Amino acid sequence: MAEPKENVLMEKITSLCKRRGFIFQSSEIYGGIQGFWDYGPLGAELKRNVKELWWSTMTRMRDDVVGLEATIIMHPAIWRASGHVDTFSDPMCDCLLTKKRFRADQVEPQTGTVIWFSGADAGDSPAADGIPTVGDVVAEAAKQGHFDDSGGAPERLLKSKEPMLSGSDQPFAVLLPKGKPDETAIKLAKQFYSSRGVSNPNPRFEKKEFVENSQRFNPENGSLLTPPVPFNLMFKTYVGPTATEADVAYLRPETAQAIFAQFKNVHETSRQKVPFGVAQMGKAFRNEVTPRNYTFRSREFEQMELEFFIKPDEAVEAVTGAVATPASKGHPGEPQPNWGWQLWHQYWVEERIKFYEGIGLPRTTLEEYWQKPEELAHYARACVDILFKFPFGTQELEGIAARSDFDLSQHERCSGKAMGIFDEELRTAFGKLPPEKQTALKDRYYAARLKYLTKMGVPAAEAGAAAQEDADGLAKGQYIPHVIEPSAGVDRLILALLANAFTEVTETDAKGKSETRVVMKFHPRVAPIKVAVLPLLKNKPELANKAREIFQSLRGHMMAFHDEAGSIGRRYARQDEAGTPFCVTVDFETFEGVKDGPQAGVKDTVTIRHRDDGKQERIAASELLPWLLARVK
Ligand code: GAP
Repeated sequence: MAEPKENVLMEKITSLCKRRGFIFQSSEIYGGIQGFWDYGPLGAELKRNVKELWWSTMTRMRDDVVGLEATIIMHPAIWRASGHVDTFSDPMCDCLLTKKRFRADQVEPQTGTVIWFSGADAGDSPAADGIPTVGDVVAEAAKQGHFDDSGGAPERLLKSKEPMLSGSDQPFAVLLPKGKPDETAIKLAKQFYSSRGVSNPNPRFEKKEFVENSQRFNPENGSLLTPPVPFNLMFKTYVGPTATEADVAYLRPETAQAIFAQFKNVHETSRQKVPFGVAQMGKAFRNEVTPRNYTFRSREFEQMELEFFIKPDEAVEAVTGAVATPASKGHPGEPQPNWGWQLWHQYWVEERIKFYEGIGLPRTTLEEYWQKPEELAHYARACVDILFKFPFGTQELEGIAARSDFDLSQHERCSGKAMGIFDEELRTAFGKLPPEKQTALKDRYYAARLKYLTKMGVPAAEAGAAAQEDADGLAKGQYIPHVIEPSAGVDRLILALLANAFTEVTETDAKGKSETRVVMKFHPRVAPIKVAVLPLLKNKPELANKAREIFQSLRGHMMAFHDEAGSIGRRYARQDEAGTPFCVTVDFETFEGVKDGPQAGVKDTVTIRHRDDGKQERIAASELLPWLLARVK
């Protein structure tokens, strides 16, 4: 899917992020490095809050999930087993003219007339004689039905290998959008051939054709792109002092694989029983061909991943008699022993949406995209992408995949270490089943295991014997757990929260002067600063001291901020831009007693100003901490 370009709102958000210290370009003083971003003081707090909320929701608040913190560099065999060494790649192509690199599947599709050149002769004679007019080509295209209302399917990626020839023999082409004269193509072709060493080139005209929705041309200049080649996204490094092929290691492209590799250790030490999950968050690295849309597609980013291990459906059926399947849409409720993979998958989709709602992303800003069967990886049974309506388009925030037993099976096959578990309850239950039921369940399990082994290229006889062993194992209470994987990106979530919070407010003062300012309406749970404590006036020691005292009493419990500089209105506005949900003001009534209203005469009170509507309320200073804790945790 082509990702749309950045837009005005994104420009406003990125500028606010830099101005207020949410996000900076990495290595900015040296011109930056593409695809890498740093989080400034406010961004670091926002990110920390998001990660802590994810961690506590996914692990501490659950009985059935434990955590893991693994290394970024792991044994390279892990990435061979997972398939990343062979298949974790994107198609990449370059502009023949400018050498700019593109992700071939994300090139904006172009429609227009293409002029092909077969090469160039050196010399001065008029170039490319005999080119048919654009009118001829368009008329021919119309005859062939290119202009009907159906829109036409995007051209498939270039499959044929166009040879890259040297100098004057290299074919070249230029796509001319409507209205551009042929001379533009000839000019670009001359530039191309002279860049390839042909002096004073005279491009040889080959043919002219009409193309629709083609991804073979650079949208910026119309130049032909090189044929797509797969580009592995893993960052390579070397472990140890010698840099030979044997020392190659990779920066992890996802956090998930460590969970699979450590599954046995975690299972044995945590006293958890399947179904249970292992959560991990941390850095991941992908050498993205075209990092874009701010932090959305970065080369270094953070993930928050859960691998939730479940019994295969055959084991659930053996123990409970029948596998429950989804009866309706929505949250299926508390987990039950008879849940098969479908209900577990639905459960995690709903739990994750609930999480997003709980940190301030309304359901209306989210969409579920259920991948079509033909889009699924061969081992996946289902995958739902949770999409967020970013300013540049509706794009993936998190994927929730039902990955069968593929991952643990791969590590068992590739490491030679058993990854299965023994389940006493299953062994007992299986033994009590009628023989025909036992046979039916074993047959199903056998078929699933055989399918996996065959797909992985295990020779037929060997695969049959191994699948039979697995089916016999099931009857004895042994199986390789299946997994449901909710996998979220921290940086994408931060970007979603920034975009969702960004609000412009226009205010007109008494003199009729209008001013537009930004209010970042973060949910208090994620807001970088929870409370700002402000003395009404800086130069009144009793106000300033009291404000500092209140600030000291709050800062051990939450991120609090103390600000004395500037008018109170300016200080409120600064906190609105930072997204601080509550400002606490110490004023004269704090000491002298409330002037009027139901609290008249009461001393030692403070005002709380609410960011989103500017409303103020007065509460006892002694109640401030519990009042805030109830709203920000
Ligand atoms: N273990 C599964 C996995 O890694 P993925 O869809 O490739 O699946 C999961 O990545 C999530 O990680 C994505 O939904 C996204 O939020 C985040 N992510 C992936 N690539 C990213 C990138 N280049 N920059 C920022 N976030 C990224």
